[in-house]
Amino acid sequence: MAFLSSVPVAPRQNFTITQSRTCSSTARRRIVRKRRTPPTCTAAAEPKPTPQAAPSPRGSDAQSRDIYASAPYRRDARGFDDYNPKPKRRPLSTSTFQNPLVVFLYERGWRDQFANSGFPGPDAEAVSAREFIGDAATVVLDASCGTGIMTRRLARDYERVVALDFSAAMLAEAARRETATQKFERVRADISAMPFRAGSLDAVVAGAALHCWPSPQDALREIHRVLRPGGAFFATTFQRDAFTPKPLTRLFPQITNSSSAQYRFFWPDELVYLYRVAGFRDVDVTVEKSFITVRCRK
Ligand SMILES: C[S@@+](CC[C@H](N)C(=O)[O-])C[C@H]1O[C@@H](n2cnc3c(N)ncnc32)[C@H](O)[C@@H]1O
Repeated sequence: MAFLSSVPVAPRQNFTITQSRTCSSTARRRIVRKRRTPPTCTAAAEPKPTPQAAPSPRGSDAQSRDIYASAPYRRDARGFDDYNPKPKRRPLSTSTFQNPLVVFLYERGWRDQFANSGFPGPDAEAVSAREFIGDAATVVLDASCGTGIMTRRLARDYERVVALDFSAAMLAEAARRETATQKFERVRADISAMPFRAGSLDAVVAGAALHCWPSPQDALREIHRVLRPGGAFFATTFQRDAFTPKPLTRLFPQITNSSSAQYRFFWPDELVYLYRVAGFRDVDVTVEKSFITVRCRK
């Protein structure tokens, strides 16, 4: 791996990788036991969107915290603040999600397909994120939120939730799906250039997004910048072999490469390396089938 040897190595910090090739209940129990924070919420069924959302009844501490470093370029009529005045040409991994058909299909079957690679589903993923982040967080960012599938679930538990995505179409759909009990702010920006002050966020969640980012290295550094010291970062992604037929993977591990110029997938040890170089500590990677979860702290 040429890039591993050419980049300076960050000071050694704690990290763990837990690999489970099957989805057996034993493997799941082993992973659950490893977690440090006890579960405090359940995967409740999602309420139907209400057309007219009432004002948020939530507390004011988080609401008044000044997390933005700059004013938005414009307020979009579709319900989000745009911090990205001059979008450049983007790779497929970003532009795909600007397509209205993809936006329409995303919560109507597209996201469900991730289960084939081991994703347990948004309810269970939100519970895992919540277990890791804990109760103390008030300001939580859903980075690359898409249609807000995770944002809405996080908004039930945290005082102030911000949904960020590059796709205006995704954010408009997220706004449409917001409900009275699941309210959140919406921001359009590139993951590598977010409009937040350094150290202003308690936690960041990035569901099924890391492989879509044009520069994961820059994105991780930017997430590290906006998190407060000790802040939690919870991310899920696909393992590098997710879309390669398994017999091929076993016979020719060296040719297994579902990364391209458009999407970038990683092996667990590559992720640990990237996270450490970005400055994160306590990097904990779990793998079930091709579903990867990374938990770490700033
Ligand atoms: C597969 S979706 C994940 C949506 C959601 N987080 C989930 O858990 O299903 C990936 C998202 O990453 C967003 N994305 C891609 N490139 C981005 C970038 N450069 N900056 C911010 N978001 C980006 C896409 O617009 C898309 O909404």
